[in-house]
Amino acid sequence: MTAGYQARPKIVLGHPNRIEALAMTSTAPATPCCTLVGAGPGDPELLTLKALKAIESASVLLVDDLVSQAIVALAPAQARVIHVGKRGGCPSTPQAFIEKLMIAQARKGERVVRLKGGDPFIFGRGGEEVERLRRAGIAVQVINGITAGLAGVSSLGLPLTHREHAQGVVFLTGHAKVGGSTDWAAMATMAHRARLTLVIYMGMSQAAALAKALMEGLPPDTPAAVIQDVSLPGQRHIATTLARLASDIARHKMRSPAVIVVGDVMAALAWADPPAQTADLAAAAG
Ligand SMILES: C[S@@+](CC[C@H](N)C(=O)[O-])C[C@H]1O[C@@H](n2cnc3c(N)ncnc32)[C@H](O)[C@@H]1O
Repeated sequence: MTAGYQARPKIVLGHPNRIEALAMTSTAPATPCCTLVGAGPGDPELLTLKALKAIESASVLLVDDLVSQAIVALAPAQARVIHVGKRGGCPSTPQAFIEKLMIAQARKGERVVRLKGGDPFIFGRGGEEVERLRRAGIAVQVINGITAGLAGVSSLGLPLTHREHAQGVVFLTGHAKVGGSTDWAAMATMAHRARLTLVIYMGMSQAAALAKALMEGLPPDTPAAVIQDVSLPGQRHIATTLARLASDIARHKMRSPAVIVVGDVMAALAWADPPAQTADLAAAAG
């Protein structure tokens, strides 16, 4: 138990999402616990109140690198902030090490917050961490965050679903090798038939291969968009089509972190795009 903390009897609350008993006490938790907190895409104003409370009451924070500095700054001054995670291609802290660290800190009686970009359960390895913590006898709470794809499209004033254009939405990782486990052509065929919006995370490095595979099931003129640095001061986007996706990414120097969105709901973006922004992007592309 950390010196100075006073153990509190565990309070049993009615709703499983109430986390006061576990992570929001200012004293050390009676049961070793860890809270996975979704930090959203970057703008602190997109945090939930629950996430903010958990961050403000943490004594140890393990922070992924897509979490913005403005959000990390909300942690108490005396809290220990440990940066883990990786950014495209750089060496990462091994997942097993992160999990061991969470377990060790929770057992020491720290109020552990695992701060993850977007939502912990959307491509955030949150599921793996919950399983590992529970196996170690650590109580886990998960606080949702706004996932980057949803925030990005909403920030452009567009919906991911629309009665007229999209009957559903699929969140996909573009990280898996094309030709590997995801059958992109089948996904595209289904998206075309069922009128689904595709939101692709981690797809920038192989956008050309992804677009080619998707065009096996979707028309080349299917509207698409790339939204970079969602909710951050440097947010930018392009409106394009599947056929032009890779060349437009290169021409406008779009880079990670970014989400690629494919589907008819994005058609409105081309009409809504203010000419000034198109000019800005062209200028940025040199
Ligand atoms: C490991 S995934 C984590 C996703 C995260 N859990 C979420 O729900 O948004 C990382 C990918 O999410 C997307 N991403 C995360 N934050 C972003 C942001 N602020 N702007 C654009 N894309 C973002 C990018 O596709 C990035 O490569």
